[in-house]
Amino acid sequence: MRKIIIAGNWKMYKTSFEAVELVNELKRTLGDMSEVDVVVCPPFTALVEVKDVISESNIGLGAQNIYWEEFGAFTGEVSAPMLTAIGVQYVIIGHSERRQFFGETDATVNKKIKAALKHALIPIVCVGEVLAEREAGKTFAVIEKQLEGSLAGFTAEEIENVVLAYEPVWAIGTGKTATPVQAQEVHKFIRDWLTKKFDAAIANKVRIQYGGSVKPENTAELIGQPDIDGALVGGASLKSETFSQIVKNCLALK
Ligand code: PGA
Repeated sequence: MRKIIIAGNWKMYKTSFEAVELVNELKRTLGDMSEVDVVVCPPFTALVEVKDVISESNIGLGAQNIYWEEFGAFTGEVSAPMLTAIGVQYVIIGHSERRQFFGETDATVNKKIKAALKHALIPIVCVGEVLAEREAGKTFAVIEKQLEGSLAGFTAEEIENVVLAYEPVWAIGTGKTATPVQAQEVHKFIRDWLTKKFDAAIANKVRIQYGGSVKPENTAELIGQPDIDGALVGGASLKSETFSQIVKNCLALK
């Protein structure tokens, strides 16, 4: 049985002061939650202070990006050992905003996953098609190419420690959610790909989150799908009421 994982991607929102305020509220509502894995991913500048708040709770800490080298003359970048040193456990890799605005490719995603795994960070690896690709009937081809490129060269043991996130780009921040049927179809495709590439046992273990306008009202129908194991939440993770409600709506599922 795969444990549901709900991660809040705070993107470039919240000063460290605001982040502490939000995570204090989340600690009150979700701090003891053990049935669902709950993760918050604040901006780099708030990681240390957020960690101080959640260190005695069940809430996990994630970053939104890493660089693949461990150290060096790479102005503006942050490495995996720098993150683990302050207690970060997860890292989002290959989010569509990074692919779209910062030149992230499947090849750089691959290097970043390698760096994360080497330092025992759990990568949350994002894949997803843009609207034109969906409308052209290319969704599966796009997802397959992203999986092939991003996950090239990993062993089955390594893949077990990866969380995948299917995020149709057209559903991110737009209020348009994939229907449960549309989402399940792609999640099933991803799991079948894992079976083909590795084996059924591995495919059964890997958690695949859905992301794209997840909110309390659509949580149950999405995560109730057999191959959807959680959510990567953007906008609705910025308020404690909505994020807590999303997590609570998972309790009755699976
Ligand atoms: P959204 O963002 O929930 O605001 O659509 C999801 C994401 O980008 O991870």
